[in-house]
Amino acid sequence: PFDVKLASSGQVYTIPPDRTVIQVLCEHGVDVPVSCEQGICGTCLTRVLEGEPDHRDQYLTDEERAANDQFTPCCSRARSALLVLDL
Ligand code: FES
Repeated sequence: PFDVKLASSGQVYTIPPDRTVIQVLCEHGVDVPVSCEQGICGTCLTRVLEGEPDHRDQYLTDEERAANDQFTPCCSRARSALLVLDL
């Protein structure tokens, strides 16, 4: 598991291994636009302010992945214990 923190509210949510970031946020009433849910369309693209995403999408380029400043919360996860999201 890893945690995501929303920059706007300071709220922290734990993402268990069997749930996506989008699923957990949605459950708590945090709406992120979502479409394919497979890392293809880029609709859910979210800025990452701190932490290292574990990119599982096919949308970002290698350069964009390496920058670690955005990720696709419908399928991507985290390498660090915490991701701070610009939400
Ligand atoms: Fe399509 Fe996340 S919803 S990449």
